[in-house]
Order: sequence, then C-alpha cells, then structure tokens
Amino acid sequence: MGQSQWTEVDEFLERLLVGEDEVLAAAIAASQRAGLPPIQISAAQGKLLYLLAKTLGARRVLEIGTLGGYSAIWMARALPSSGHLISLEASPKHAEVASANITRAGLVGTVEIRVGLAADSLAALGGEDPEPFDMVFIDADKAGYPHYLEWALKLTRPGSLIVADNVVRGGAVADALSSDSNVQGVRAYLESVAAHPNLEGTVMQTVGVKGYDGLSIVRVLE
Ligand code: SAH
Ligand code: DHB
Ligand code: MG
Repeated sequence: MGQSQWTEVDEFLERLLVGEDEVLAAAIAASQRAGLPPIQISAAQGKLLYLLAKTLGARRVLEIGTLGGYSAIWMARALPSSGHLISLEASPKHAEVASANITRAGLVGTVEIRVGLAADSLAALGGEDPEPFDMVFIDADKAGYPHYLEWALKLTRPGSLIVADNVVRGGAVADALSSDSNVQGVRAYLESVAAHPNLEGTVMQTVGVKGYDGLSIVRVLE
C-alpha cells in the first residue's frame, strides 16, 4: 500500500463518479504545455470544492492561488449565472494560462483573475468594500496562510466557508520543531483557526494522486 495504490484508486474514482470532462482535461494539458508545475488539486478534490460551493448555495467565491485555473473552473461551475469568483495570482504567466483555460471553459463572465502578490490584492480588494464572499479557497504560498486567514475573516460573513489546501504535508504538520517554513505556515494557520472564537473547523487527511496531504475546512460562526 502506498502511492501507486492511492493513484490507482483516485483514477478509479475519477472515472466512476467525479466526472472530469474535456474542458478540465484541456486546462491541465494547456498548463502542462506552458510549463506550469502540476500542482493543481486532484479531480476528486475539485469535485469536493464544487459540492461544498453548491451545498452552501455560494454566489461569491474568493480563491488565493490560481495556477492554471483548474480549481477555479471546478468552483465557478457550482455558481449561479449571477455568481462571481475572484482568483488571486502572483505570476503573470500562470494568470495568462488560467485566463485562456477559463475562456475555453465558458466562464469569462464568472471568473476574474487579479495578478499580483495576494497580500497586495487582498488589501486592494478590502478597500473596495466588496459584498461578502460565501467561500474562500486558500492555496497559494503556505507561509502566507495566517495572513490570508485574517483577510478571509474580513471578507466573509457568518456561515461562510474557508477551505485551505496542503495543510498536512506528508504528516509534517504534527512536527512542532519542523524547520520548513511551509510547515510552520500551515501550523500557524491551524493554530489561528483553533484560537479564533468565531471559527469552527477540521482537517481531513487525504491520500491520492497528490500523495499524503490534507484539506482544512473552517466555518465562520453565525
Ligand atoms: N488552486 C490551484 C493551484 C494553486 S498552486 C489549483 O488547484 O488549480 C499555487 C499558486 O499560488 C501558484 O500559481 C503560485 O504562483 C501562486 N502564488 C504563490 N505565492 C503567491 C502569492 N504570494 N500571491 C499570489 N499567488 C501566489
Ligand atoms: C505545491 C503547492 C500546492 O498548492 C500544492 O497543492 C502542491 C504543491 C508546491 O508549491 O509545491
Ligand atoms: Mg494546493
């Protein structure tokens, strides 16, 4: 049991019930051709984000870390035609590839990509006094997670969901003495969640095509 089995099962589940289609496959292929790192969420995780957004009845989603737009396409597909997804990306190249993928997906009217460091884009967004977001997906630099959580709190409403990727990191999250800044970033994130009186959350450990990791799911209390 190990990576080859996790991959086999993920591929089986993807074929059976996740339903990755040609548009999502084309987004991954185009990202690969452009030399982007193959670090998008798995199809099964994409379906989970889609189901969460649908269950919430989400209309507005904020994503931090676009890459080639794969997770953005999954979430945007859960939104009504009046819905809006804003995705923040530091790399102009990644944003360009994502933009083409989102156009191919027919989601130009729904998805808005903002290029720049997420910390700057979040400050700018905060200054616009936007309608609250129903769901936030945090998936950019892991050292920034604690700061992104602060913004997520300002930009959401009671009942909103805050999801964060890569918070288990092959089990390293449990190592308080880790010298890895990514591990320290996700640990600080989870500690802030735990300490916050208006948040309730959990982490689901995951195995699959992306190895051993986990997703944090946090709700803003009503
Ligand atoms: N959510 C995507 C994967 C994101 S990978 C998906 O599942 O499809 C992480 C992305 O965050 C990369 O594209 C990287 O360029 C971007 N990133 C890293 N640091 C950032 C920062 N400080 N601000 C904004 N984006 C950042
Ligand atoms: C990396 C980033 C991610 O968001 C991810 O899911 C996997 C890997 C990375 O930066 O290596
Ligand atoms: Mg990730």
